[in-house]
Amino acid sequence: MKRLVAATVAVMLLISLVGCSNEANDEILSSGDITADPIVAEEPVTSEEEVTSAPEETEIAEDTGSVESDEEEPTDETTSDANGDALGYELTEVELTMYATDPLNVREGPDAEYEALGQLMVGDAVTVTGELSNGWYRIDYDGTVAYVYGEYLREEEVITEDNYTDVESDDEYYFQSEEDYLILVNKTHLLPDDYKIETDYVQGSYEMEKTAAYYCKLMIEAAAADGINLKVLSAYRTVAYQQKLFDRNVQSRMDDDGMTYEEAYADTAINIAPPGGSEHNAGLAVDIITENDWDTYTGFEDTEEFAWLQEHAAEYGFIMRYASDKVDITGFIYEPWHYRFVGVKYAADIQASGLCLEEYLGVTE
Ligand code: DAL
Ligand code: ZN
Repeated sequence: MKRLVAATVAVMLLISLVGCSNEANDEILSSGDITADPIVAEEPVTSEEEVTSAPEETEIAEDTGSVESDEEEPTDETTSDANGDALGYELTEVELTMYATDPLNVREGPDAEYEALGQLMVGDAVTVTGELSNGWYRIDYDGTVAYVYGEYLREEEVITEDNYTDVESDDEYYFQSEEDYLILVNKTHLLPDDYKIETDYVQGSYEMEKTAAYYCKLMIEAAAADGINLKVLSAYRTVAYQQKLFDRNVQSRMDDDGMTYEEAYADTAINIAPPGGSEHNAGLAVDIITENDWDTYTGFEDTEEFAWLQEHAAEYGFIMRYASDKVDITGFIYEPWHYRFVGVKYAADIQASGLCLEEYLGVTE
């Protein structure tokens, strides 16, 4: 399962403001909302969604992004369900094709209490006609107005066994040597315009750059053999999705935490990389949490999964990228869950050096 992905680097004037916050990472917290409504699990374990308390946040099964029309002002329209009941949610009219990242119930109204009219399977396309303020999306379901939980839809096509297209040539493939995997991607080093990768699945619908994916899968399998369940929370993200993730985090800090725009921006900027400046955009990063306990991602460093990764991740070419004693250099909070593929040739050396990637590469400005 491969596809060619061209990362469009958004040239943006993003100010890197470093603030102080102990708030849990919204990227991680973007995982899962207890109101989610997948068929297979009431907790959205396969997604990177927004978590509001313990599990929660912003992106979802990758990044199940929100709708294109984030810039649109919500209408004053009051939504009604299929029975005509006024529900009172704000509705933003959109017209989008989106794809299911998880098996998902289609319901009569925008809540899990409503009757299910049918189901979407992973990769199914659906026409979204509105985004509701409670996180549910209005869809056109074979001519009927219906609703699905928005965190399990994304704008990028979901590659499945049935629809993947094999890549004929890798001429434009960015990675031609092991050294290429040392590429520095951060707030000041955005992805190059010619960055093109092939991706492959890692876990569920999550994908990474194909070599990173290969080693990540080996790592997950090796951990499983040791009785350690590594759960992927986020992997490859498009640049467009990174933009939405960033914007959503700013907005939620203003809406939910009462921050000013400047405060919200600064706090987001130490948690979420700018579009084109995330290792997730490069397909080289994976966020890993525990399989069974949603609460432990904030305390991931105390888990047996973290201990296993500390001991073994470098064997598979991964390093923990954002250490607690490197915040001033990386510009990001301590992220014990974020692992960066640098290749098996260099990972152990980088880890043993005690340096962050910027220091190791001698690029700290
Ligand atoms: N949370 C990391 C820094 C990212 O957004 O890539
Ligand atoms: Zn990450």
